[in-house]
Amino acid sequence: MSSKDIREKYIKFFVGNGHKQIPPAKLVPENDPTTLFTSSGMQPLVPYLLGQEHPEGKRLVNSQPCFRAEDIEEVGDNRHTTFFEMLGNWSLGDYFKKEQLEWFWEFLINELRLPKEKLYVSVFEGNTDVPKDNESYEIWKSLGVAEDHIYFYGVDKNWWSRSGEPDKMPEGEIGGPDSEVFYDFDTPHDEKYGKECHPNCQCGRFLEIGNSVFIQYKKTKNGLEELPQKNVDFGGGLERLTAVSLDNPDIFQTDLYMDIIKKLEGISDKKYETENKAPMQIIADHLKAATFMIVDGVEPSNKLQGYILRRLLRRSAIKLRQLNKIISLNILVSMIQIILTIYNKDGQTKLVEKIVTDEINRFQKTLDHGLKEIEKIEKIDGKKAFDLYQTFGFPFEVTEELFRQKGQQIDKEQFRQEFEKHRELSRTASAGVFKGGLADHSEVVTKYHTATHLLHQALRDVLGPEVFQKGSNITAERLRFDFSLNRKMTEEEIKQVEDLVNQKIKENLKVDHMIIPLDEAKKMNAIGLFDEKYADKVSIYGVGPKYELDPKAKDQRDRAGYYSLEFCGGPHVEQTGIIGGIKITKEEAVSSGMRRIRAQLVS
Ligand code: ALA
Repeated sequence: MSSKDIREKYIKFFVGNGHKQIPPAKLVPENDPTTLFTSSGMQPLVPYLLGQEHPEGKRLVNSQPCFRAEDIEEVGDNRHTTFFEMLGNWSLGDYFKKEQLEWFWEFLINELRLPKEKLYVSVFEGNTDVPKDNESYEIWKSLGVAEDHIYFYGVDKNWWSRSGEPDKMPEGEIGGPDSEVFYDFDTPHDEKYGKECHPNCQCGRFLEIGNSVFIQYKKTKNGLEELPQKNVDFGGGLERLTAVSLDNPDIFQTDLYMDIIKKLEGISDKKYETENKAPMQIIADHLKAATFMIVDGVEPSNKLQGYILRRLLRRSAIKLRQLNKIISLNILVSMIQIILTIYNKDGQTKLVEKIVTDEINRFQKTLDHGLKEIEKIEKIDGKKAFDLYQTFGFPFEVTEELFRQKGQQIDKEQFRQEFEKHRELSRTASAGVFKGGLADHSEVVTKYHTATHLLHQALRDVLGPEVFQKGSNITAERLRFDFSLNRKMTEEEIKQVEDLVNQKIKENLKVDHMIIPLDEAKKMNAIGLFDEKYADKVSIYGVGPKYELDPKAKDQRDRAGYYSLEFCGGPHVEQTGIIGGIKITKEEAVSSGMRRIRAQLVS
């Protein structure tokens, strides 16, 4: 079965069961400083899992591109990737375990035609706070799953939240016990991974293909508390579902990767099957992730998302060098088109190719420089090898090989220790991103979010209605807003916009939230980024009561009397006065036709 068939069947199946299809979120979340990337389908739905009304109702389904930076070092086998597409369905306080497990089972057996004997399931064994999930156990049995195909595990395997086990969840975070389904490839067990094989064994025999999370808890300072509603959050990797539909454990041999691997074989003059799997898997994954990031507006840099993008491209280049020592690195660019074709995104090819070419050319210089440095070093130990990895992106194997040629042996254990130290540091850093975000600063972020709406409207008032939002990114420290404009703003215009936003803040306007039919929202001339493909009902926010039209303003359409009226999922402050005030700190170019404003709250 093709990945396209599986994606379509899944969406159709759940739409047939009363779900509304919602558009995927961007890979780089807007207005969510808690995380750098969208890493699961539930992420943009957190407010709704907490109880806010979703415009599309209580049953949702979609397919969400996801990126997990923490898995970068795991890539290089037949199943791990940083980028993947998550098929997801949700119950927002509607159906619960019975319907969820029955539906997913029906989908696997009737739609994907997987043989029942090949499927195993796991359920939560319970702990002192949360009871054993006997209900799911009974449901699986009633569906005909043999008892010896049902396994119980603890919080380390059958609990899901964005930050892991209950002890690791920050206050405000939601999660719950889950029930997973595994496919048995029936490959021989490798005792290196433990005496007995079981669904969560890492030997490669079993592959997890779907996870139904029963999100019914919120972490508070008193521990786990029941949410007002019981939710279902399901996620299943499209790449893995495609692989099992072919009974092939290698996701890189599905149509989602095959053409990329073929192209790599062509350009490197090496065969995938013969000892070149890991570097080819890494390049295929990293380039795909990089392509999706660039399409969503990320550019290589030394910070945040841009840094991750840079690392992905550099690692791809190094791996290519490993495959073929004399190949020109920017041949990688020839793979972009293939990746975009797999996802029907051909229109974006030029933009992605340009950014990748520039970055690879820059890296080529660093690489040449690094190689010269290596030549100069007399003796290289594990620590030095790690420095080279850090500074130039040379993986250990590359450095090792270069010295093997010089007759030197490098202490891999020392390299590993340095590497672990560093990994621990980056874990702490990303946990910091998490904690520093919405959970602790929701008020600040909410203020910035409403300020962004005012800024959008003020820009249109001062510069004209051709100005339109292109992107938005908020942290607890600042807002960043990208918009269409062909020129630099003058000092005076910047001042006018800032004054206008501050005036609207001072007027202490009321903020209204409405969930209304799409047609109606359009008639009201609501603006903002909105994917119209699926929605019947939409969520919009209006700022300000009915106002007198200002004859000087350049954007004079009637927005039902609201100063600002935008498609948006929220959250927002109730009155603009709460924002205090803003200061525009920077106005700069992003690309041709696009400008960026940074602003900070002032009190
Ligand atoms: N959110 C759940 C996961 O990512 C479904 O596994």
